[in-house]
Amino acid sequence: MTTVYLNGEYIDKSEAKISIEDRGFMLADGVYEVTPYYEGVPFYGDRHLERLRRGLAWMRIPFDAGVFDGVGKELIARNGLEKAATSMLYMQVTRGVAPRTHYFPKEPITPTVYAQAKAWTRPTPERWAEGFTGVTVPDRRWGRVDIKTICLLPNVLGIQAALDAGADDAILVKDGVAMEGAHQNFWAVIDGVAVTHPLTQAILGGITRGVVLEIARANGIPVAERPIQVEELFTAEELFFTGTTTEVHPCVTVDGRPVGDGKPGPVTRALSRAFLQHVERVNAGH
Ligand code: PDD
Repeated sequence: MTTVYLNGEYIDKSEAKISIEDRGFMLADGVYEVTPYYEGVPFYGDRHLERLRRGLAWMRIPFDAGVFDGVGKELIARNGLEKAATSMLYMQVTRGVAPRTHYFPKEPITPTVYAQAKAWTRPTPERWAEGFTGVTVPDRRWGRVDIKTICLLPNVLGIQAALDAGADDAILVKDGVAMEGAHQNFWAVIDGVAVTHPLTQAILGGITRGVVLEIARANGIPVAERPIQVEELFTAEELFFTGTTTEVHPCVTVDGRPVGDGKPGPVTRALSRAFLQHVERVNAGH
């Protein structure tokens, strides 16, 4: 049995129902967030809630994201995830239920609020060491992907195209630049420097991305925030992704061509190790 949170109630997942007139269902008029939990403790939960707050404010959905602090704790407990090595809290808020119009409902409506906690598993060390494969796909997203809206169709089609091509992940390319993955940020190691796209409205500012930048700087690994040209994918020493539930993920081929020697490289391995150590340290502090 899975207990979820819906509009103020903790209920069995099979009983969670939303209206066909929910603006999330009809119009993708909503925003979401995913916070990783390690041993039942949120990892940089404040940064995730802050991003959600920003999204809600920008979308003009009146809801206090701080509610998810308590909801997360409760869902972790109710679903027996306190000891789970790796789990996450999915949170979603839509504008609410109203007869379908493109404009906002004239009368104030109550947002629909949903959350679910679930476990996820890391790849085994052997699987990680094999590395993951990426293919480039066109980035067909809109102009504000820094807001974590539930309009994910281009991401869905992008990763499906990657899977259909026999790869693990998509690398979204816009105007000749490798922007990010379909659900994670993207990095290249070029001349020993770990490079990732700068924070703009054209990528999601990943919390993991920020933490990995901090870790790299603390460990003396040179970093740069600048666009990565597609041609650089084929000359980079290493490529990797970062994100909640993927952490630091090596990408060892692009469009079927090996990156470097086709194995996870030293910078990726060092950052992954340092990231996992950082998780342990942050958790020990709770
Ligand atoms: N995805 N870029 C995109 C497009 C994403 O969807 C995500 C997260 C990230 C990484 O962000 P963070 O490090 O804050 O998780 C980058 C979440 C996990 C998802 O959609 O399930």
